[in-house]
Amino acid sequence: MRKLAISAVSALALGAGAAMASEGGAVHDVNFSFEGPYGTYDQAQLRRGLQVFTEICSACHGMKFVPIRSLGDEGGPNLSSDEVRAYAENLSIFDPELDEDRPRKPTDMFPTVTGDGMGPDLSVMAKARAGFHGPYGTGISQFFNGIGGPEYIYSILTGYNGEEKEEAGTLYYGNPTFTAGNGWIAMPQMLTDEAVEFEDGSPNDAKSLAKDVAAFLMWAAEPKLNARKEAGYISVGMLIILSVLLYFTNKALWAPHKGKKAV
Ligand code: HEC
Repeated sequence: MRKLAISAVSALALGAGAAMASEGGAVHDVNFSFEGPYGTYDQAQLRRGLQVFTEICSACHGMKFVPIRSLGDEGGPNLSSDEVRAYAENLSIFDPELDEDRPRKPTDMFPTVTGDGMGPDLSVMAKARAGFHGPYGTGISQFFNGIGGPEYIYSILTGYNGEEKEEAGTLYYGNPTFTAGNGWIAMPQMLTDEAVEFEDGSPNDAKSLAKDVAAFLMWAAEPKLNARKEAGYISVGMLIILSVLLYFTNKALWAPHKGKKAV
């Protein structure tokens, strides 16, 4: 038992070390509301992130796996059905049956965006990238901080160092977080202070905007996070009740034999 306790404590210490170690690297840790076993999405933040995505990112990135109607989901941005419909109608889609463009409906997906200078689809980007790699593959840092997809996105968006180079007619921008491109990325720096204006006057410095849109993209990649965690607590709660019942059942069953002297 004592051995077990010691290894549990040292595992925790390792985890904390890992969490700190990742801060010095190119991917910065961000405290998101949805981290940890009790974390949930922050509805106001998701709405701000949606605005950043719509006004800036959607010019070059699609989200073809995300249905527009999910913007109305509880636990997500939770827009009213009128707001969802208005959002959909602002985006057109080619309808092969009508042989022309029509406004989107809430049941349609977010647009697909392809072409020169366009970026990859962002539907599941927050889960496709890992920001943290635990020490020696323990994965303990991930257990506490998540895989770090949103942190990776935040760090890319805020990681520009101001350098530029041209290669084969394409401009690349210096960004040490983008290790896949050896520190050079084809996406220009999109988030500057006040790039987006929020109606309620929420902070709109570049870092806050990056945090909001990273949280929004995490929601896009994992919309059911809140419900999944809730189901988790319920099952853990039931297991605890079951354990208590079993404990007393066991006691009751053995009670007649306890206290008897062996013959
Ligand atoms: C002007 C077009 C443009 C805009 C606007 C734009 N991006 Fe990009 N983005 C790109 C391109 C191009 C790439 C591919 C970069 C590369 O592979 O070098 C990219 C790549 C990315 C990546 C992927 C990095 C990886 O690991 O593959 C993420 C994440 C991303 N963009 C997020 C965003 C977000 C969030 C916004 C809005 C704040 C945004 N982008 C706005 C063009 C754009």
